[in-house]
Amino acid sequence: MTVEEKLGQLQQLPWTYDTGPGGGDTKEAEDAARAGKLSSVLSIYGAKSTNALQRIAVEESRLGIPLVFGLDVIHGFWTTFPIPLAQAASFDPDVTRADGEVSAKEARSNGVHWTFAPAMDVTHEPRWGRVAEGNGEDPYLTSVFAAAKVRAYQGDADGESSAPYRAKDRVAACAKHFVAYGGAEGGRDYNTVDVSESRLRNLYLPPFKAALEAGAATVMASFNTISGVPAHGNTHTLTDILKKEWDFDGMVVSDWTGVQELIAHGFAEDGAAAARLALNAGVDMEMTSTNLVRHGKKLLRDGRIGERRLDDAVARVLRLKFDLGLFENPYVDEDDAVAGPTAATRRAARTAAARSMVLLKNKGKALPLKRSVGSIAVVGPFADSGDLLGTWSFPGAIEKYPSVKVLDAVERAAPGAKVTYARGVDPEGGDTGGIGKAVAAAKAADVTVVVVGEPSAMSGEAAARSDLSLPGAQEKLVKAIAATGRPFVVVLVNGRPLTIGDWLDSAPAVLEAWHPGIEAGNAIADVLFGEVAPGGKLPVSFPRAVGQIPIHYNHESTGRPYDADNKYTSKYLDLPPDPQFPFGHGLSYTTFEIGAPRLSRERVSADALREGDTLEVSVRVTNTGEREGDEVVQLYVHDVAASLTQPVRRLRGFRRVTLGPGGSRTVRFRLGAADLGFWTNAPHGEFTVEEGTVDLYVGDSSAAKGRTTLTIT
Ligand code: IFM
Repeated sequence: MTVEEKLGQLQQLPWTYDTGPGGGDTKEAEDAARAGKLSSVLSIYGAKSTNALQRIAVEESRLGIPLVFGLDVIHGFWTTFPIPLAQAASFDPDVTRADGEVSAKEARSNGVHWTFAPAMDVTHEPRWGRVAEGNGEDPYLTSVFAAAKVRAYQGDADGESSAPYRAKDRVAACAKHFVAYGGAEGGRDYNTVDVSESRLRNLYLPPFKAALEAGAATVMASFNTISGVPAHGNTHTLTDILKKEWDFDGMVVSDWTGVQELIAHGFAEDGAAAARLALNAGVDMEMTSTNLVRHGKKLLRDGRIGERRLDDAVARVLRLKFDLGLFENPYVDEDDAVAGPTAATRRAARTAAARSMVLLKNKGKALPLKRSVGSIAVVGPFADSGDLLGTWSFPGAIEKYPSVKVLDAVERAAPGAKVTYARGVDPEGGDTGGIGKAVAAAKAADVTVVVVGEPSAMSGEAAARSDLSLPGAQEKLVKAIAATGRPFVVVLVNGRPLTIGDWLDSAPAVLEAWHPGIEAGNAIADVLFGEVAPGGKLPVSFPRAVGQIPIHYNHESTGRPYDADNKYTSKYLDLPPDPQFPFGHGLSYTTFEIGAPRLSRERVSADALREGDTLEVSVRVTNTGEREGDEVVQLYVHDVAASLTQPVRRLRGFRRVTLGPGGSRTVRFRLGAADLGFWTNAPHGEFTVEEGTVDLYVGDSSAAKGRTTLTIT
């Protein structure tokens, strides 16, 4: 390979979705492919379009190296599943697995080899729009979901093939955004992150480690700085940790113009410096900006980048292409392209959405609704809306396969009922008289379903909010419905935690449905009418007010924990100390009793733990109600006295169980060094398991009371 051809393998350019060659603004990519100066294209799909572009690279370039096509298949291709945050709320990795498998098949058959997912950005910032794309505020939950999603996209490595994603129903995954992106100050996207080594390793890195252990083929660098050094120029994270300490032999792609942005960060003087700093730090492929291909040759000649590093980056890119099987078969079979959702994939999306919903409140058993009800008013700006897909829905799907509307689904679910509809207000607008019509509908109905929340575009990238209440006049709408005195329930459709205002007191029931995807309406109706009992739990704390942020269950102990009887403790004067709803909270249509946790051993040695010893925590869970339902049994640990102040609780196990009335089951968790130890700040972080007491809490949320104690000797 010539130097130009090597540098070409480090270049990714954007396409304009499915415009075929010669169409749209795509000439730059075609010319570069022909000249052997292009390695990858993003945001292209379609068997015909990808094959046509691939043919240029394979048949017209000197070396005939195939292109690799990437796309943001975040929670669906044709079949849109609930947003990733919602998936985490299911506390059921099978939910994310279903998304990954369906998405991989649909995308790969349409020429997409590689998805820029899963995002595994742990965050304590509900203002941050990208909270929707990750799995919430906890590193353990995120790790479990990240690993499950990677396996679903790529397939399981079975020993014979270390790269199962060469199969024609799989795609290569991309663990993103590396790293600490969710720590953006103030929740403003792309913002500064200042993080200690211990927090980096205890909070932000574990999901990436889990994703790589599950075989993630690629990693994407993040837009933020990490303690002053931009992630795209960060040798410590990209090379020392990722490539050396973790032995990652896959490929690191930049984020969109992330290399170029080293200049705006004030880290690189110009494009040549940006290329040098990014490559030397460990970036292997440049997305969209073109600094490596422009300046690489001179940098090499001047000795500013080394040939070994350049070859290493090229080898990582080529390995991905070999592993995807592109050298054997660069094309997709145009007759096999999946053209849209099927009944089976819709069923999977509907199940996933229903399992992701969280019943926040249910006073007086307001839910489930009776199918035999005489009349139902369905009101609110999202009642008759197809915009329940959520952020990062694939543009092709938004056009062709919008969400099933709640109104339509309610009509189908209660065929005997008289169903009326009133929009009430626009999602972000004021009251232009619509509230009166909604009130009239509510007064005339036996029960009202109020569907309120955020439009899809209000979360995701570059979608931070400073106010987390219901946008526009939606709170006014809820209060007006409450003032009728008639029975009603609220369904929330949103991409992040909301601050639920004082309307909460007047609402008998609140169902958090998130952005549920293509089958939104059907899944919401399934839960509203009790076809499915809600069993999801919050993967993020819901603050009472924006002023409480950051508020998360896994905060570190302070010297003055909140004490109602002592002024000089950690709190706000004007708010209770806890969130509106804590991490792990979620109700059911039935009730559960979770017994006292039992330990297989009350003492264990730190040395034995380090050598792989484990112990068991078991707990009995019983359905004490009158109908079948799901409970998520959660296990938290707290190291009482450690060389580094520890979180007051850390989730280290969860199990979602389904039990019939009176049914009972023992749930068992295994704990080992990873659960009981932690990373210190020591020069570059050191994992330690210390002697002392560890409190273990088991229950139905992060506020669980059931406790036992373990002694590490
Ligand atoms: O994958 C995304 C990333 O998450 C944000 N910037 C753009 C990339 C490609 O679309």
